Amino acid sequence: MTRFLRPNIARMAGYVPGEQPRDGGFTKLNTNENPYPPSPRVKAALLEAVTDRLRLYPDPMSAELCRAVAALHRVEPGMVLAGNGSDDLLTILTRAFLGPGDAAAFPSPSYLLYATLLQLQDGRPVTVPYLPDWTLDRAALAVPGLKLVFLANPDSPSGTAMPREQIAQLAETLDCPLVVDEAYADFAESRFHAIPLLTDHPNLIVTRSFSKGYSLAGIRLGYLVARAEIVEHLVKVKDSYNCDRLSQVAGVAALRDQDYLAATRSKVLATRSRLTNALRALGYQVPESQANFVWATGGPPARETFQQLKDRKILVRLMAYPGYPEGLRITVGTDEEIDRLLEALHQIGESRDRRTEPPPTR
Ligand SMILES: Cc1ncc(COP(=O)(O)O)c(C=O)c1O
Repeated sequence: MTRFLRPNIARMAGYVPGEQPRDGGFTKLNTNENPYPPSPRVKAALLEAVTDRLRLYPDPMSAELCRAVAALHRVEPGMVLAGNGSDDLLTILTRAFLGPGDAAAFPSPSYLLYATLLQLQDGRPVTVPYLPDWTLDRAALAVPGLKLVFLANPDSPSGTAMPREQIAQLAETLDCPLVVDEAYADFAESRFHAIPLLTDHPNLIVTRSFSKGYSLAGIRLGYLVARAEIVEHLVKVKDSYNCDRLSQVAGVAALRDQDYLAATRSKVLATRSRLTNALRALGYQVPESQANFVWATGGPPARETFQQLKDRKILVRLMAYPGYPEGLRITVGTDEEIDRLLEALHQIGESRDRRTEPPPTR
């Protein structure tokens, strides 16, 4: 029966999400979840929402959530579309803008899902390497016929971000939609946020996630902000009920507790800075991160270190990209979790030193 598959589906490998170990006991620093729980208001709202009304379909347009998003970003509610995680929105966008053979561009190294979404559409990927200062050569993106550009800002795995002016310049250069994937924007300084650019740049589309800053990866909720005339068409592409009742309730409660977001954010940023300095002191190269993770390359062999950490029940993400040495992408955990990681890295380094020391001379 597989001969009936579209050839591009038969050919592709499929996206491999980060490991979610079934047995507990792991210090989990591999998929950029927030180490702090969601706002207590989220739990209270969810408990209240668990009623007989769950037999009814949810609001297909997540209207209350979209109004809360619109109020937060000072945009019109018609400019907001909710999704089952920001991945759902990236899927909707790819389906809406790309057909077989169409070209879409994204930087490298970046979020691996973009390539998978393109393969699903049988599209043509154009990868544009980041410059050494983690900006992009706009000329490299001036590809005739381009239908869509993805830019993760902050980027994963690097954690680096391009400031708003550069995104504006990029949007001006392009003759196609520019999707700025801001899954990690809650941890970035506001000068990296692109939503204010929507007034002057109609080809801009910004996606956001509740998984990271709002600690709701288990709920699956995200949103995008774009010109209303684009959103109107995207609605046709989404599943009818793409966000369930409980997600919508959780999202509204989370958005309404901005103080809680600010408090957990500042703890994550303090730990991020400590982790960055400690890794650099261990000999790793770590770009300045605007996200809730850091990317460490150039230190002791990454693959071996990844496994040795895993043996000690510490899970980080081993990342390999063409043109870069293998590296470790490490989520910013609690201070205790990061202490555990650093202690393990010290031990691993010491045992490696002992192994490589020359034998004593007589
Ligand atoms: C760059 C980037 N965009 C989007 C996502 C997906 O986020 P969500 O959980 O909202 O689907 C991730 C998840 O790790 C990510 O790294």
